[in-house]
Amino acid sequence: MKLTGNTIFITGGGSGIGRALAEALHNLGNKVIISGRSKERLEETINANPGISAVELNVQDPASIEAAAKQLIEEHPDLNVLINNAGIIHSDDAAGVIDEDVLVSTVKTNLLGPIRMTSALIEHLKSKEEAVVINTTSILGFMPLAATAVYSATKAALHTYTLSQRYMLKDTPVKVLEIVPPWVQSNNNEPRAMPLASFIEAAIKVLGTDTDEVLVEEAKMFRNNPGPNEGVLVTQFNDSMKSQPPKIH
Ligand SMILES: NC(=O)c1ccc[n+]([C@@H]2O[C@H](COP(=O)([O-])OP(=O)(O)OC[C@H]3O[C@@H](n4cnc5c(N)ncnc54)[C@H](OP(=O)(O)O)[C@@H]3O)[C@@H](O)[C@H]2O)c1
Repeated sequence: MKLTGNTIFITGGGSGIGRALAEALHNLGNKVIISGRSKERLEETINANPGISAVELNVQDPASIEAAAKQLIEEHPDLNVLINNAGIIHSDDAAGVIDEDVLVSTVKTNLLGPIRMTSALIEHLKSKEEAVVINTTSILGFMPLAATAVYSATKAALHTYTLSQRYMLKDTPVKVLEIVPPWVQSNNNEPRAMPLASFIEAAIKVLGTDTDEVLVEEAKMFRNNPGPNEGVLVTQFNDSMKSQPPKIH
């Protein structure tokens, strides 16, 4: 996609990957609007980056999505890029009792959120000469981390939804992209994860090509896993993670 001159709305731009992506795109000469539930984080980000603006949004709430979409279209009629980035991850127990709050909040945020957000903006995006919808999935959508089974499933579901969306929009001005982050140090210092700045630098380079899937080197092995023997690597991966589990609340 072209990396400059866009008006970009990003869900969850007040922290982590979303904030870093928002800042990188702002610095490349795009109008960027961030969003999220925490007013404090939004304010901190816009104060540190004059020119970025913010909209309060809870992607778990359809009324909040509708209100944000209405506000965006009114205040930023040039809006032509939507980045569905907001997401949550919790540990769960696919071998036991699934916590209802974890299940519902994860599906609402990671799957229903991007579907509803895109739906609320799609007619506006179709009216633009060039528009882009970007869904943020995860390598765990292709190689599930068994200790975050619900999270991994939401990302796999968002991947297939993205494929359908791309097909359905192929004769419109709306291009549908997918960012597949590897493990990134977005809010942790986990040494096995990719530093946030390196991820953003590499992801922006790929985003600037005509690819449909934004894959940095670190993500490729995981993305390439699905196939008839995918279970072999899934077992190896989860065995290796068991000896040193990631810190996930
Ligand atoms: N970090 C990784 O290793 C990694 C790997 C693969 C994929 N990803 C994906 O990349 C995306 C960003 O992850 P991250 O690591 O940067 O996470 P993060 O630091 O926790 O940031 C998540 C952002 O989403 C927002 N958010 C969460 N729930 C929301 C809601 N209901 N409504 C609106 N905004 C909401 C948060 O803002 P508020 O809390 O203020 O609402 C926050 O700004 C997620 O989709 C994640 O699944 C991350």
